[in-house]
Amino acid sequence: MTFDRKIKIAPSILAADFANFGAECAAVEAQGADWVHVDVMDGHFVPNITFGPATCAAIRPHIKGVMDVHLMIAPVDPYIDAFAKAGADVLTAHVEAGPHIHRTLQAIRAAGCKAGVALNPGTPAEAVAHLLDLTDLVCVMTVNPGFGGQKFIDMTAKVKTLRQMIGDRPIHIEIDGGMDPNTAPLMARAGADVLVAGSAVFKGGSVSDPAPYGANIRAIRAAAEGVYA
Ligand code: DX5
Ligand code: ZN
Repeated sequence: MTFDRKIKIAPSILAADFANFGAECAAVEAQGADWVHVDVMDGHFVPNITFGPATCAAIRPHIKGVMDVHLMIAPVDPYIDAFAKAGADVLTAHVEAGPHIHRTLQAIRAAGCKAGVALNPGTPAEAVAHLLDLTDLVCVMTVNPGFGGQKFIDMTAKVKTLRQMIGDRPIHIEIDGGMDPNTAPLMARAGADVLVAGSAVFKGGSVSDPAPYGANIRAIRAAAEGVYA
């Protein structure tokens, strides 16, 4: 994975056909996705359950690019090796998931993955101030995690603060929740470079009719890059 600050669109397979993950991942990549975002939920840290490392491993061969795994689980540490072995490129843990996020980020890097740290809407940017040297990505949640299709919560001020805190460090700022062509430009302007989008990418398409995925991805990218098509 090489670092850059160009806008990257990361479709969340939370909005894909769960019986068809392999084909859905291949379809969004063929339609222009930069990363594939994989939402792991445990029914404990968040009030919903999705899937675990075995599903991630099954999906992996169908993703050519970056597999971005968002862990909405607590505890995190006992499962890091399993998700690393499943082929995650980025493993993101929540700062709220336990008292030892510093150790968690060390363990993620030791397992050979890029280390991400996610912040719920109620958590201030300053929560990562002493973690930046251990971090490759800060994920700013713009919904309360657990479900796709929720209303965007504006985190412009937090993203701007993080962008300043990060300075020249090679750390991505990722936005997760409610990203669409209306909300993406706000976050891009504030300093984000990775935009996760579930419903806004998968709406209107399917593996047998994937062209809408491409149109949706291009619309979000164009809006974020400030080029209104
Ligand atoms: C929410 C997940 C998000 C979600 C985004 O807990 O982490 O990745 O899938 O979905 P949309 O884009 O529909 O808000
Ligand atoms: Zn996510």
